[in-house]
Amino acid sequence: MASGQLSRAEALACTACMHACHVMLYSDTKTQLFGKFPIRHIILMQMRFDGLLGFPGGLVNPSKETLEAGLSRELLEELGVALPVSVEDHVGSCHAPDSSSSSSSSSSSSSSRLITHFYVKKMEEEQIREVERAAASTATDHGHEVLGMVRVPLYTLRGGKGLGSFLSHAFIGNARSQLVDSLLRLNLVAPEELHKALTSSLT
Ligand code: APR
Ligand code: MG
Ligand code: MG
Repeated sequence: MASGQLSRAEALACTACMHACHVMLYSDTKTQLFGKFPIRHIILMQMRFDGLLGFPGGLVNPSKETLEAGLSRELLEELGVALPVSVEDHVGSCHAPDSSSSSSSSSSSSSSRLITHFYVKKMEEEQIREVERAAASTATDHGHEVLGMVRVPLYTLRGGKGLGSFLSHAFIGNARSQLVDSLLRLNLVAPEELHKALTSSLT
């Protein structure tokens, strides 16, 4: 569990809060870019309707469904596949950063506090490819709430291109730190390489 977070129980105790669940789906891969740069892992994110990058998932109602059932429902809408998510996939929960200035498209009340719950699920490469196919074809949200799925480039090319450029895009809420924390925690990118990418994303 990442530091500075609410436990699942603490988060659920806030019945006046709104709750949102998002998941990082990823796999290993042997694919190489241009036949020489190992891609190593496929991590799925999405281009949202608001032009921001985020993880698949969405608002859930804990008084009517478990967090995980609500997340699976959102995944069916956004990815077009029924993906079971379990309590063991839960990484952490926290209060969302104040969105009053950055999330003007949100229809939720500005007085309601939002708690975001983050999950990580490792899959086989072929399952990830299946998700990508369904997200672009059968998913009901495709083309409006979700503009498309994107993979995260984990390599660094000359001039900081690759992961560094990716991290310089705009992300919803704390999706960027959820991604960076996961890369470190799961050892998907070497710490010194991640540090370099983070530094180049700021320049
Ligand atoms: N970290 C923090 N907050 C996040 C993250 C994240 N990684 N991802 C999304 N959010 C916030 C969004 O700003 C949004 O307010 O969580 C809330 C719900 O997430 P969405 O995925 O946007 O919710 P979803 O249920 O899929 O879509 C409903 O329709 O009514 C609109 O604006 C509303 O975004 C909402 C969308
Ligand atoms: Mg949704
Ligand atoms: Mg969503």
